[in-house]
Amino acid sequence: MTRSKWARGVALVGAGMSKFGSFSEKTSRDLFVEAYLDMQIGIEKELAPDRIEAFYLGNFSSDQFEKQAHLAPIFASWIGLSPISSLRIEDACASGGVALRQAALAIASGEYDVILVGGVEKMTDLNIAQVTEALATAADTQFEIPAGFTFPGFYAAMATAYMHKYQAPREAFYHVSIKNHENGALNDKAQFDKTILEILESKKIRAEQKGRPVPSWKTEIDFLSDPKGNPFIAWPMALFDCSPVSDGGAVALLVAEDIAKEFTESPLYLIGSGQASDGALPDRESLAYIPAAQIAGQQAYEMAGLAPKDIDFAEVHDCFTIAEIMASEDLGFFPRGEGWKAAMAGKTSRNGEMPINTSGGLKAKGHPVGASGIGQINEVWKQLHGKAGQRQLTGNPHIGLTHNVGGSGQTCVVNIFERRD
Ligand code: COA
Repeated sequence: MTRSKWARGVALVGAGMSKFGSFSEKTSRDLFVEAYLDMQIGIEKELAPDRIEAFYLGNFSSDQFEKQAHLAPIFASWIGLSPISSLRIEDACASGGVALRQAALAIASGEYDVILVGGVEKMTDLNIAQVTEALATAADTQFEIPAGFTFPGFYAAMATAYMHKYQAPREAFYHVSIKNHENGALNDKAQFDKTILEILESKKIRAEQKGRPVPSWKTEIDFLSDPKGNPFIAWPMALFDCSPVSDGGAVALLVAEDIAKEFTESPLYLIGSGQASDGALPDRESLAYIPAAQIAGQQAYEMAGLAPKDIDFAEVHDCFTIAEIMASEDLGFFPRGEGWKAAMAGKTSRNGEMPINTSGGLKAKGHPVGASGIGQINEVWKQLHGKAGQRQLTGNPHIGLTHNVGGSGQTCVVNIFERRD
């Protein structure tokens, strides 16, 4: 029996998302509408727009990426929701997950019964140097950026600390990447629709067609350990350790638990939620874990009355492969120092003991930063309803967890959803 510490229960009754990827012809508004329509198609009962009382939008930096700030009222008006209260929430890459939690708190308070939550980012209008600079504004520009850090650099520092502390080989990171690309290849909404084996084969064919020497890679490990296939971005993080630059939108519909069945016969219940913060990297006693993630996870478990072993699967914030390994420990799925071994042993694959990132994760599904937290909730919605297609987990999962991180771990939000039947 689970217990709720919300002042009243909160349920998820719909979720939708655009395809994630690089779309030069689309704006964030188009991507948001795509996600909203995807949710409407999936909702079993009719969703009359006038039932929606407020709109919370997670977005990191449309002002930098698209020169358009103040997205929430613009989007609300575009889909006919004006004059409802509409607001944008910015917590770097955790913007979506935080928007969902804030909406849940507003429903639990009794102020609203029905809130549309969105997440969106359109990053690819800028070139890679401009994207890197825009993302860097989520870091501490007084202490981190002057030291020469970019986001791949932050996670490279964490990876180095982790490898040193636990004698983890770089090869452990390859296994996260291989698994997430395998899962992403089964997800039609994912940015990367190929496994790493398929990518390396296509590169060999391309080399042959261009009359260049054909690389001798036979396995994913050959390819990932060759800087020609997998160049370093910030050692030890190479290209296939990084999430990509992405465009995408995602939405979720949250309602008060007592009216959930007016929208769907099979709501999911938000039974645990936690959020914590931290300072920049120089403030941390260790770079080998993310304290805010551990605290947010503990809060969510306590609220849900659950332990890590009760979670059937998790969507975690793998902005870099090391981040997934640290998350698997921060959330208590594996003891400290054991996450890399679990990844190498296949324990986090779809048929492993603790499936992680069945959607392909940020690594393969894509990371349109403000949308990523709601994209994770879309996977939980699909998996818990048995609608994840070829990547559907067996064993009838009932409990799914999402873990969304902002910056290098300054914000972390964890949400736990339950299907009851
Ligand atoms: N993983 C795997 N392949 C990738 C990739 C990634 N993350 N990013 C790009 N590629 C592929 C492209 O598909 C392309 O392949 P092709 O040659 O077969 O067509 C090739 O690499 C070059 O793509 P390009 O877009 O020119 O790459 P880039 O050098 O501009 O960007 C990174 C690569 C790693 C620098 C960029 O993806 C990045 O900055 N990622 C991190 C984003 C980030 O920090 N987010 C916030 C996290 S907190």
